[in-house]
Amino acid sequence: MGGPASVSRPFEVYVHVPYCRRRCGYCDFNTYVGDGEGYAAVALAEMELAAAWLEERWAGGGGRPATTVFFGGGTPTVLPARDLVALLDGVRARFGLAPEAEVTVEANPDTVNAGSLRELAAGGFTRVSYGMQSFVPSVLQVLDRTHDAARLPEVVDWARVAGLDVSCDLIYGTPGETIDEWRASLEAVVAMGLSHVSCYALTIEPGTPLWRRVQSGAVADTDEDDLVTKYELADSVLGEGGLGWYEISNWAVPGAECRHNLGYWTGADWWGIGPGAHSAIGSERFWNVRLPRAYESLIAAGRLPWAGCDVPDAAGLVLEHIMLGVRLAQGLDLDVLGLPGSASRAVAEGTAGKLADDGLLDEEALGGRHRAVLTLRGRMLADIVTRELAP
Ligand SMILES: C[S@@+](CC[C@H](N)C(=O)[O-])C[C@H]1O[C@@H](n2cnc3c(N)ncnc32)[C@H](O)[C@@H]1O
Ligand code: SF4
Repeated sequence: MGGPASVSRPFEVYVHVPYCRRRCGYCDFNTYVGDGEGYAAVALAEMELAAAWLEERWAGGGGRPATTVFFGGGTPTVLPARDLVALLDGVRARFGLAPEAEVTVEANPDTVNAGSLRELAAGGFTRVSYGMQSFVPSVLQVLDRTHDAARLPEVVDWARVAGLDVSCDLIYGTPGETIDEWRASLEAVVAMGLSHVSCYALTIEPGTPLWRRVQSGAVADTDEDDLVTKYELADSVLGEGGLGWYEISNWAVPGAECRHNLGYWTGADWWGIGPGAHSAIGSERFWNVRLPRAYESLIAAGRLPWAGCDVPDAAGLVLEHIMLGVRLAQGLDLDVLGLPGSASRAVAEGTAGKLADDGLLDEEALGGRHRAVLTLRGRMLADIVTRELAP
């Protein structure tokens, strides 16, 4: 369980910042309206507790400096750049930071400026991921976004001048968004020469303000056919722009893939700092209490702010591996399906063959490399493929 045997795996750190200037109507992330004053000190205290726990767990296992760090939210950039740099310094001091570590910060485009980005880069950040969502003002309005689409190229330039790699998130399928408007957003990110783009189908999350508007009939629900057309369009426009898919929702020019997220999908160990953050160390899984106040009180009492923990059994670990691995362009090594806890190898091979016959898995990768790699159609039906391959 997470001892020296896990030492060869990369170790990653996620820092959750649960604050936003304003809530977007579609979002159900664990985030609250606020400026995060005082938050850095509490998160730094969690790092100290976490490092002590890991030192004990890994006794004799050698140093495990973080190979990647990801500041996500919420909106990490509601914190002043000096707080984010202090948090990164905390990671360096408590866990260690590998040379060439990838250090990403998520940012809303209207929460940074040229100076704050310079400060972040000087403090060791290497990458910024902007939540752009769309380049069409009317779509941004339905999403309750506060930024101005016309200023996005400037915000990208600031990051580049500071020496940061730039990624962006886009959302497709917003009520009222036309195919041409989605194409315009895709073409805009290609025109800016971004090397990494994430595209997410709008999910109408139950209980959110957007969900209530859909329930009341004020705006239309998302439409499956529209989402399929827009996913295919994303793959083709981004592909023509030199960005290939490497995970169902992620496209990059070769070499610009997000190493942190690849770690999640390929079984790295990671520690999540902050309210609601999850950790995976060896086969152990932990998750923190979600409410900032409860989180702060536990840390003030000198306790790790865990709400729960779990050690999945062999079948659970295989299922996790299939769910994550199948989403990647490199695909899932079918040999894992012969491990204890999985379906018998012969059964799994038969299932994979049938999925390839149905056009959901790539015939060539299956036959030649013995890997389950989704086809374009399969990417849109990944849940079915996972269910079929699962033990
Ligand atoms: C934590 S948020 C990003 C950081 C930053 N707060 C922002 O919004 O720009 C991560 C991304 O999740 C995506 N997202 C959040 N809620 C979503 C939803 N209901 N459907 C689809 N994508 C969603 C958005 O693209 C967003 O940029
Ligand atoms: S999408 Fe981003 S800015 Fe909007 S509420 Fe969610 S985390 Fe905050």
